[in-house]
Amino acid sequence: MKVMFVNGSSHLRGTTMAAIEEMEKVFGAEGIETEVIQVGGKPIADCLQCNVCGKTGKCVFTDDGVNEFVEKAKDADGFVFATPVYFAHPSGRIFDFLDRAFYSSNGYENFKFKPGAAVAIARRGGMTASLDALNKYFGIAQMPTAGSTYWNMVHGLTAEDAPKDEEGMQTMRNLAKNMIWMMRCFEAGKKAGVPYPDTEKQFCTNFIR
Ligand SMILES: Cc1cc2nc3c(=O)[nH]c(=O)nc-3n(C[C@H](O)[C@H](O)[C@H](O)COP(=O)(O)O)c2cc1C
Repeated sequence: MKVMFVNGSSHLRGTTMAAIEEMEKVFGAEGIETEVIQVGGKPIADCLQCNVCGKTGKCVFTDDGVNEFVEKAKDADGFVFATPVYFAHPSGRIFDFLDRAFYSSNGYENFKFKPGAAVAIARRGGMTASLDALNKYFGIAQMPTAGSTYWNMVHGLTAEDAPKDEEGMQTMRNLAKNMIWMMRCFEAGKKAGVPYPDTEKQFCTNFIR
């Protein structure tokens, strides 16, 4: 089994990564592979809605790892999208990265029916609004959303602060445990022959005044 993280921070070893590492320890102890996609500090292009991906299955921007992430997502069993909070919202770069990943991913094929969790990191506030925004990706892609014993957040201005937020780090560990349980339940269901939902073909109803 494998869990893929997307780290929306420019700091490769910042506070967001400290929270990710706390989850990775739990996954590792249970023999679950992890991979962290670092969105990093380079500019990430926003989705242009050029719709080329509708024909080719790939985003036209090929230099920032979005297409590779979507490809790798096929072999993943769960996802964690983790972001620092900027002015009470997720980082712009994680939005740009995920917008293009999901828009180009052919009906969310590589993501659907796999658990997802959003994690927000901030010095002090704006996490619930950030979680709310990231959870939207799971909602549209038929991804069951994983919860923990508190909302998935860790407080800290820098990575050194993260371990001091004991409840936050505990929330990360419990979140990882809940994801493991969900992934194992889905795997057991698959083995037992539980069919996937018979999803209706999507209507596209555009509202025109
Ligand atoms: C542009 C910007 C806006 C920020 N806005 C907030 C905020 O609204 N609330 C907050 O508590 N912290 C805010 N912060 C602080 C970061 O969320 C905090 O330092 C976080 O630990 C950074 O995580 P990282 O090291 O993984 O990048 C902001 C930081 C930046 C750079």
